[in-house]
Formats: sequence, structure tokens, C-alpha cells
Amino acid sequence: MAKLKLGVLGSGKGSNFRAIADAIARGDINAEVCIVISDVEDAGILALARERGIRAEFVHPGKFRTKMEPEREQHLVQLLRDAGVELVVLAGYMRMVKSPLLDAFPRRMINIHPSLLPEFPGLEAWTQAVAAGVATSGCTVHYVDSGMDSGEIIARAEVPVLAGDTPETLHARIQVAEHKLYPAVLRTLSQRDLPKV
Ligand code: GRF
Repeated sequence: MAKLKLGVLGSGKGSNFRAIADAIARGDINAEVCIVISDVEDAGILALARERGIRAEFVHPGKFRTKMEPEREQHLVQLLRDAGVELVVLAGYMRMVKSPLLDAFPRRMINIHPSLLPEFPGLEAWTQAVAAGVATSGCTVHYVDSGMDSGEIIARAEVPVLAGDTPETLHARIQVAEHKLYPAVLRTLSQRDLPKV
């Protein structure tokens, strides 16, 4: 089978991207990362991509805080298309995805979220979990739709919430699980045809 062509979008340090790139380098995932794009010019994820010789692009998001301006998002779509991307992988991308991107990659975009969805969608899910006093949290990989962390769930991994956990210690434990779950999902997706749209 041909390698699945991935485009990764992220706004932060890029530890999930690193886990995915390492799994590809080990031969665990039949894929290649064609491009990494960030809405944050100095995001760690862009530096990690460049270190690996992967094309890394900053796209200025424009004037909004929670989403890209439509023309900017259209530009991002063009970069993904020109790179031949088949599946868009959101890895800590902190903006809502709007129609230019959603319409260009229907059922071709996945995200990882740091809770057991549908529990605790939105920001700082680990803080929400500690505040709610749940015994178990985790992470979820899901398809992206127009809602907030609401798309069809692909896989979840549970993580215990321990006595004395702070939001930070819980997030660190969830990230360890993310770094296993995201590569595992991509390994599965790279072994079969993408779902029909
Ligand atoms: C992860 O916790 C992910 O679940 C959330 O944003 C964080 C990104 O972390 N969507 P990183 O940039 O991959 O380290």
C-alpha cells in the first residue's frame, strides 16, 4: 500500500507530532508527514518539523482569536493540497476549524483531545477533570466536525486520576497516553482505505 500522506496542524510544543514522527521513523506507521503548519510563528512544533527535515509553515491566523480568518484558512488549505495531503492530523491546534478546511477534508481530519469524550470538551480538559473529581480521565482521537470536540470517536485510552493530582500532573499522565494512542490510530488508518465521504 502507498504511504498515507499526512498534514499536521499544531499551535504548541508538538509532543504528539514528535510521537507520530518517531513512530513513522521506526516503520510502525505506513505514512509520511508532508507538511506541518502552525498558526503560531514560534511554536515548538515547527522547530521539531524543521529538525526532521519536514516542511514547516506558519500561517498568520488574522484578526480572530478562536478561528482563522476565512482567507487565511483557505491559504492553509492550499498549502495542504499542494503538499498532496490525504489526512489532516490536528495535534494541539488551538483554533476552531471552519468551512474552508472542513469542506476541503471531509472525514479526512482527526484530532486528539485530552479527555474521555464526550466528557470535558473544550479548553484545559485536564483542569475540568480534576475540578469534577472523576476517578478516570484519558484521551480521545476523533474525526473533526464543525462542533467543539464533537466528531465521531475513533479510539479512547483511559488514564487514572490519582489522589493529589493537580491539573499539570494529570495532563502529563494523559500526554503519555496520547503519545501511544495517536500513533496507534494512525497505524490502523494507514493500513486501510480512508472512510468514504
Ligand atoms: C494535547 O494535550 C492534545 O490533547 C491537545 O493539545 C495538547 C497538545 O500537546 N489537543 P502537544 O503540542 O502535542 O505537546
